[in-house]
Amino acid sequence: MSTSGPQRARRDVGELDLAPKPHDLTDEALPDSEGEVGPTGRVRRHVPEPPLIAGHGPAKIMAVCNQKGGVGKTTSTINLGAALAEYGRRVLLVDFDPQGALSVGLGVQPHQLDNTIYNVLIERKLPLQQVVLRTGIEDMDLLPSNIDLSAAEVQLVAEVGREHALARSLGPVMAHYDYILVDCQPSLGLLTVNALAAADGVIIPLECEFFSLRGVALLIDTIEKVRERLNPKLDISGILATMYDPRTLHSREVMARVVEAFGDVVFDTVINRTVRFPETTVAGEPITTWAPRSAGAKAYRALAREVLAR
Ligand SMILES: Nc1ncnc2c1ncn2[C@@H]1O[C@H](COP(=O)(O)OP(=O)(O)O)[C@@H](O)[C@H]1O
Ligand SMILES: [Mg+2]
Repeated sequence: MSTSGPQRARRDVGELDLAPKPHDLTDEALPDSEGEVGPTGRVRRHVPEPPLIAGHGPAKIMAVCNQKGGVGKTTSTINLGAALAEYGRRVLLVDFDPQGALSVGLGVQPHQLDNTIYNVLIERKLPLQQVVLRTGIEDMDLLPSNIDLSAAEVQLVAEVGREHALARSLGPVMAHYDYILVDCQPSLGLLTVNALAAADGVIIPLECEFFSLRGVALLIDTIEKVRERLNPKLDISGILATMYDPRTLHSREVMARVVEAFGDVVFDTVINRTVRFPETTVAGEPITTWAPRSAGAKAYRALAREVLAR
């Protein structure tokens, strides 16, 4: 039986990937077995296979957050979302950055949209369901954004309950989804506070570079303030080391510092630096479908299992 056809939204995980592959060493090296010492320098913890679920919802909201740009927030949102969907979870990705990179990464042209998350936040009467787009991934939807969202920060300031605008907007779809991942903008402004005020957990992508630890203290401080004042259920779900290059001492040293500083909250899964990720942005789809058998796809599946187990 043919495995392609218009009705098939995604390719099988194990299907051969015929797209041209550049030579990329880091795309191959990722020891993955439980009980072995992984790139974090720790023995990988046991992660159970995700259980099948009978029904859907209520959604767990996860904010993907770091006020530093270029650390892998958007890439992690897309690929973790796609991996969670592969495990049978219904996923909504929220583009909460006026740059619209998440939307672009899923093949949407944000400037052509009439309605985005901005309209849902500001015009209270527009139902979120009318703005949500389906993606090429079965069970993964997108709430897109574009540059309009940059006005929301200013407009919300004058409102009562301004920190809870996103939580209010997501209310009507909570029962429909299992995971809502919010891709935050690189700032700790009101939009990010809205994401934290709505979230059950925060995932902090951290680039394996020397200066990456700078600013994390401020981020954690902000998370703690939001927990105290706005959202007692907020938790740090995990710190995700990204752009790791196993060939360099530098990467390994930064990794060791991160584990020393944050301990068990650091995911065992580490995302290697590979050109496959920038390529998927051009392709407008997650690595899990674009290169389903690549190390990058496997890593995000491993991350999904960790997230499902936490
Ligand atoms: N593991 C990785 N290896 C190499 N490049 C990556 C990796 N993750 C992300 N990138 C690339 O780095 C750039 C910034 O990533 P992005 O996810 O947009 O970060 P952020 O959302 O934090 O600004 C993008 O061009 C993306 O394709
Ligand atoms: Mg981004």
